Amino acid sequence: MRMVDLIEKKRDGHELTTEEINFAITNYTNGDIADYQMSAFLMAIYFQNMTERERADLTLAMAESGDQIDLSAIDGIKVDKHSTGGVGDTTTLVLGPLVAACGVPVAKMSGRGLGHTGGTIDKLEAIDGFHVELSTEKFIKQVNDHKLAVIGQSGNLTPADKKLYALRDVTGTVNSIPLIASSIMSKKIAAGADAIVLDVKTGEGAFMKTPEDAKELAHAMVGIGNATGRKTMAIISDMSQPLGFAIGNALEVKEAIETLQGKGPEDLTELCMVLGSQMVVVGGKAETLEEARTMLEKVIENGQALEVFKQFIADQGGNPDVVDDVTLLPQAKFVTEVLSKEEGYVSFLEADEIGTAAMVLGAGRATKESIIDLAVGIVLHKKVGDFVKADESIATIYSNTEDLAECSKMIYNSIEYTSKPVEKIKLISALIID
Ligand code: URA
Ligand code: CA
Repeated sequence: MRMVDLIEKKRDGHELTTEEINFAITNYTNGDIADYQMSAFLMAIYFQNMTERERADLTLAMAESGDQIDLSAIDGIKVDKHSTGGVGDTTTLVLGPLVAACGVPVAKMSGRGLGHTGGTIDKLEAIDGFHVELSTEKFIKQVNDHKLAVIGQSGNLTPADKKLYALRDVTGTVNSIPLIASSIMSKKIAAGADAIVLDVKTGEGAFMKTPEDAKELAHAMVGIGNATGRKTMAIISDMSQPLGFAIGNALEVKEAIETLQGKGPEDLTELCMVLGSQMVVVGGKAETLEEARTMLEKVIENGQALEVFKQFIADQGGNPDVVDDVTLLPQAKFVTEVLSKEEGYVSFLEADEIGTAAMVLGAGRATKESIIDLAVGIVLHKKVGDFVKADESIATIYSNTEDLAECSKMIYNSIEYTSKPVEKIKLISALIID
């Protein structure tokens, strides 16, 4: 087989065979196919698209390109959740205990934050003593005993995706539905998921700017999941404004605890209920989404979800008392209100810009090497549709510096007002269940 023939075949709009896709991925990963040939191949896929079968083959080829986590020693259907990235998105912290309390095993591998988006591992490390370095044996035992464990990325997972993603970044081929879908799904499959729930974000600042594009990506991923024997469901949710009110690691842990207590922000709570219901269904613990939702409401009400969270924190070396006393979380030195200079209805609250404002404070990483400050961040008091009076606080900044010029400028820049009432943003625009 020659790579040039595969490039020409895809360029001319024909369907590649499983063997041809495996050939391209295997040989690119081990260095036998050069970047210039793979670049042309990716561009051909970008313009000609892939069939559902080709997408599934590409996903499996990438999943099998490196180590794969074997979770077969864990009882039950292992469900993983993936979000395409957001600002202030604390759902994983809430969903883990929530669905685990309903009997679904959650064996999750999570990442750190980069740029304006946060990472679950960073947030968990805001809890004193908490660590994510578990041996495979401990990881599996913890999930079997208590249904929930989170580890950091380890091993050489999906090296093909790492190499391809870097190449796509510099060849104008990131924004391709078959390439994004196979990239995301290959990582979930390599991490051992039997079933997958996807939260595809839409809005300014998300990968997919329009609900239509987001829907197409969601359908592509659900198609791959079902074609590779992993029951998969997805939702499309808004990420034009931050989720919940808190942005910053310790602040988001506090928000997650409040949500598990049934006192969380309305949007975060609703998102967790919808994603959690899908996780409970694909995890085989409920027949319908309605039945699953009733189960989730019950474990919040009776405190079981919170108990699972405490147990999980203790299992991974953290201080479980934070759940009852959030002042045990890292505290920032300075607390400053951002007062509105205008009056009106909030018509726009740019998620990206707020995320970047939190990053400037030290809550997020500008580069992979940046050291973050777990205590700092922003708590919003207003969302799109809310009325703001002049001199009313729109946000509180938690910082360890008194120089807030850049951060507060960004917060002011992120907000737009109108004099007429504005509708609240619809959080979830679609459910994709098969
Ligand atoms: N996220 C991924 O993991 N891969 C892509 O291709 C795009 C977003
Ligand atoms: Ca939040």
